[in-house]
Amino acid sequence: MHTMTQLPTDKPAAYAELETSLRALLAGEDDLIANAANLAALLFWSLPQLNWAGFYLVEPRRGDLLLGPFQGKPACVRIPIGRGVCGTAAARRETVVVPDVHAFPGHIACDSASNSEIVVPVVRGGELLGVLDLDSPVRSRFDDADARGLEALVRVFVHSLGSHVS
Ligand code: SME
Repeated sequence: MHTMTQLPTDKPAAYAELETSLRALLAGEDDLIANAANLAALLFWSLPQLNWAGFYLVEPRRGDLLLGPFQGKPACVRIPIGRGVCGTAAARRETVVVPDVHAFPGHIACDSASNSEIVVPVVRGGELLGVLDLDSPVRSRFDDADARGLEALVRVFVHSLGSHVS
């Protein structure tokens, strides 16, 4: 059983604790869906002020982003690369922080409660696997500390997959 603990309010300290938890949670498992599901759940139930946390994964057949494991309300199923915040982060292969989603051209609204968003690309050995997407009802919820912390967690996740992706 995984025990959820109260995180420190200092963001770098909180992400350092989450990284320790994630390593324990993913130890001995290399399945993409299982590990993505556990990372989404860990984030959604640990980080404050979130209304959605989850993955969009590259679907090679159509070459777009397909809804993957997540926590939160039901969401849009497919997002073309280059569209919305998720597709922009995927196309740029860079983390995108959006303080106010209503001011982001092309933002795709899945939950009307969302006001800010962060999307981190998931890349393994030069190959784009998908993106990690977090939404918040609070404007300017995410900053550079979240970007760096989530990028570190995504690295742990990618490493857990080894050379195999299901
Ligand atoms: N807002 C995202 C779509 C995904 S939902 O937030 C879960 C976007 O603009 O890409």
